[in-house]
Amino acid sequence: MRKMFHLFAASVLGINLVVAVLGYPAILWSLVVFIPVILLGYRDMAQKQHSILRNYPVLGHFRFLLEEIRPEIHQYFVESDTDGAPFNRQERSVVYARSKNARDTMPFGTMQDVYEVGYEWVNHSILARHIDPKDLRVTIGGPDCKQPYSASILNVSAMSFGALSPNAIKSLNIGAKMGNFAHNTGEGGISPYHLQGGDLIWQVGTGYFGCRDHEGRFNPETFQMRATRPEVKMIEVKISQGAKPGHGGILPAAKLTKEIAEIRDVPMGHDVNSPPGHTAFSTPLEMMEFIKQLRDLSGGKPVGFKLCVGKRREFLSICKAMLQTGITPDFITVDGGEGGTGAAPLEFTNSIGTPLVEGLIFVHNALVGSGLRDRIKVISSGKATSGFGIIKRMALGADACNSARGMMMALGCIQAQKCNTNTCPVGVATQNPRYAEALVVEDKAQRVYNFHKNTEASVCEMMGAMGLSSPEEIQPWHLMRRINSTEIKNYSEIYDFLEPGVLVNDPPPSYARAWNAAKAESF
Ligand SMILES: Cc1cc2nc3c(=O)[nH]c(=O)nc-3n(C[C@H](O)[C@H](O)[C@H](O)COP(=O)(O)O)c2cc1C
Repeated sequence: MRKMFHLFAASVLGINLVVAVLGYPAILWSLVVFIPVILLGYRDMAQKQHSILRNYPVLGHFRFLLEEIRPEIHQYFVESDTDGAPFNRQERSVVYARSKNARDTMPFGTMQDVYEVGYEWVNHSILARHIDPKDLRVTIGGPDCKQPYSASILNVSAMSFGALSPNAIKSLNIGAKMGNFAHNTGEGGISPYHLQGGDLIWQVGTGYFGCRDHEGRFNPETFQMRATRPEVKMIEVKISQGAKPGHGGILPAAKLTKEIAEIRDVPMGHDVNSPPGHTAFSTPLEMMEFIKQLRDLSGGKPVGFKLCVGKRREFLSICKAMLQTGITPDFITVDGGEGGTGAAPLEFTNSIGTPLVEGLIFVHNALVGSGLRDRIKVISSGKATSGFGIIKRMALGADACNSARGMMMALGCIQAQKCNTNTCPVGVATQNPRYAEALVVEDKAQRVYNFHKNTEASVCEMMGAMGLSSPEEIQPWHLMRRINSTEIKNYSEIYDFLEPGVLVNDPPPSYARAWNAAKAESF
C-alpha cells in the first residue's frame, strides 16, 4: 500500500499540473481536498506508533473509526433481540419503554427458546390475586438499630459522582425522591448532586471518602458529621465489588479537581488512593466492632456491608464473629462477579468473584445456617432490570434489589461501553461537560421514577399471577429451570437450602470444611 500511495500522490499532483497547464486551472481547487489527504498519508507512513497506518496510509484510519463505533454497529445491525451483552436488546428495550412510560407489551409470543437448557420461569396459580406496590416495602434494621429504614424492593445501586456525571447523579436522586426509593452514593462520597431530597445510602469504601484523615484512615468525627445528615438513611461499608473485587484504585493528582477534593475530603496536589482492602479492621471481630462504631456514630442508623462472595471460609468467619460478638449488620448487599463498573481490568471483570446466583444463595444459606437470617436483610445487586429479575433474586434469598446499569439505562445509557473513556455519548458516565450537559435532569429524573414505578408494578403483577401476597412468600421452588430437553427442576432441587441453625449444630458436608476452618479471630 505504501507504493500505491506514492503512486496515488504523484498521479494526483501530476494530473492537476498537466490539466492546469492545458488551460483548466480550476482543477487546482481539487488540491484543497487532495493535499490534506496526501499530507495525512505521509504523516501516517512516517509515524512509528501504529504499524497499520504505516502500511495502509489514510485507509488505516477507517479501522480505528470502525473499532470505535463497533458496539453501536453491532447493536444496530448485527444483534438479535435475545443476544447482546451484558444486557440483550430485549432487556434494554423493556427498561427504555418503562422509563418512558411507553408501550412495554410484546406481540405474537415469546422470542425465547423455552426448550433450551437454562430457560427459567415461575409458575402461576389458579388463585391469582391483586398486589398493591405499597405492600412491597422492606424494613431494614436489626435489634441494635434505632432508626430502621423502610426500603423499596428496588433501589439505585452504588455509583459514585466521578463515575457518573453531575446531571446523572442529580437525576437519580430526584427520581429516588419522586418514587420513594433509596440512592446509594457509591464510594466517592456525598456530593452536592446527591442532595436533591432523595433518600441516601452512604457507601464507605476503603478510601473512606468523606470520613478520612490526611493519611487516608477512617475519621470518626467527619463520619459522624455526615452520617447524621437527615438524607442519609443507611450506611454501607464496601468490602468488594463484583466487577473488580480486591482491586483498589488511584485518582491521579492531575485529575483531582477542587470539587472532588472537597467531596472526598482529600488534599489537592496528591494522588488519591483507594487501597484494595480496609485499614479500619483486619479481622472479622474487628469488622463487627467497626460496624457497631458506625451504627453508634450515626445515631443508630442501619449499617450493612456490600461484597462479592470470594472465599467461603472468610464469609463464614464473619458469621462466627457475629455469633461471638452479638453484633450483626442490618443488611448485606451481595454483588455478583458479573457486576458492572466504570472501569476494571479485564481479568478482574471476567475471572474473579463468585457469580450472583451462587453468591446470593451462599450468603442467604450462611445466615440461615448460623441462625442470624432474621436479624439481617439481604440485598441483591446485579441485573435486576425486570419484574422477573427481581422475583428470581427474591426466590434465591434476597429481600430487596439494587440496580446500577438498569438505572443508567433509564437515564438514557445505550450500552455504548465507553464508561472508562470520559466520552459517554449520552452524558451518563462522563465528567466532560460537553457530553454531560446533553443529559436533561428534569426529563431523566422522570424516567428514573417511571422505570422504578413500572418495574415495581411488574413485580406486583407477577407475584399476583403466582398467587402470592408478599415477597417473603417467594421461595426457591417457585423458580424453575430447564436442565435438559426432557427434565426441569426447581431451584430447591438444584441447590441446597439450609435449615435454620444447622451450621452451628451439624454443618452439612457441603459447608462443613469451610465452616470448621472459619475463625472469628482471622479472615
Ligand atoms: C458506572 C458504575 C459505577 C459503579 N460504582 C460503584 C461504586 O462506587 N461502589 C460499588 O460498590 N459498586 C459500584 N458499581 C457496581 C454496582 O453498584 C453494581 O453492584 C453492579 O453494577 C451490578 O449491578 P447492575 O447489574 O444492576 O449494574 C458501579 C457500577 C457501575 C456501572
